[in-house]
Amino acid sequence: MHVSPVLAAQTTYPFVRIEEAKRRKAAEGVRIFDFGMGDPREPTDPLIKRALVNALDEATGYPAAVGLPELRVAVAEWCERRFGVRLDPEREVIPTYGSKEAIFLFAQVVLDASSGKDVVVIPEPAYPVYERGALFAAADVHTLPLLAEHGFLPDLEAVDDETWSRTAIFWVCYPNNPTGAVAPAAFHERLAELSLEHDFLVCSDEAYSELWFDQPPASALQAADRTNVVVFNTLSKRSSMTGYRCGFVAADARVIESLRKFRPSVGTAPQVFVQRAAIAAWRDEEHVERNRALYARKRALFLDLFERKGLALAGSEATMYLWVEAPEGETSERFAERLLAHGVVVAPGSFFGAAGEGYVRFALVPTEEECAEATALLEDVL
Ligand SMILES: Cc1ncc(COP(=O)(O)O)c(C=O)c1O
Repeated sequence: MHVSPVLAAQTTYPFVRIEEAKRRKAAEGVRIFDFGMGDPREPTDPLIKRALVNALDEATGYPAAVGLPELRVAVAEWCERRFGVRLDPEREVIPTYGSKEAIFLFAQVVLDASSGKDVVVIPEPAYPVYERGALFAAADVHTLPLLAEHGFLPDLEAVDDETWSRTAIFWVCYPNNPTGAVAPAAFHERLAELSLEHDFLVCSDEAYSELWFDQPPASALQAADRTNVVVFNTLSKRSSMTGYRCGFVAADARVIESLRKFRPSVGTAPQVFVQRAAIAAWRDEEHVERNRALYARKRALFLDLFERKGLALAGSEATMYLWVEAPEGETSERFAERLLAHGVVVAPGSFFGAAGEGYVRFALVPTEEECAEATALLEDVL
């Protein structure tokens, strides 16, 4: 049997490896505190669950790729309330099955290597899907490091003109997974300007836009000219709805038109009852405020612990993640292994690319009670 050479060249998805290590440890009888994957385990708000149940009709047909008009309106209204940006729900919004599939597939939709635009720029460390999607679209992937001394922002001025001339897509993710860094509005503005100058699309993954602690972070949509800005957002983190699979892409009408053409072939429109639940979720902010308060309390437990133990944090301004420096002389994998020996699962920074070495990522997804127990346990381990 033949397989795609791109697939054959891929290593196991990092979180599959974490799952395996975790299972081995649990089999030894060690109690597991899982801060590995960013999968919120908080209950979904009853208002959202009710909306889903009420939408379960006798028969459920295929969902249309463009989604329910009411969902597109709910998303557009949310973008206006949250970012002050007016979107045309017909022409500038399309729902997605979570945001992962849309992120993975995007290069296939817009890449035309024959035009000389064959480069996808990705940050490192990063969510692995930008790179994987680009490789399956046969793009040339260019990586820009996110460094603490640069606020975990890519150095836009360090990109040479040849790369700009070949760039089709430039991925950014703020608030950032895995570093928790936030980008100022000026960064989005500059990138939007560059996208017009060099004719590329800014793909802004905003999965964590609602998990903030000080002030709501800016969106790439707020750029003065958002013609080349494509935003991916999702209910997964904002509303603890990873299992529902519902997000959206918001972009200029040209981009959404291409997605309207592409997506019926893929079949990843969310189920109609999920879309009904999504409408309820985008229309309600109270459950999101409660979610933020919960993450803030869990975060405070760990910030106290790390301060007492002299562990330094970098980034970690927003999101559900804490980006923690590995102690002097210990690689991120070694540090993660040492924590796992006590049942505490974290993601080594190197899993997100070589530039993530030197850090581990704590995803604050266990319950508040578990977080309290884990910090008590770590008191003797760190
Ligand atoms: C940075 C980032 N983007 C996108 C996603 C995709 O989330 P979903 O497909 O659940 O919307 C995740 C999930 O962990 C993520 O961390």
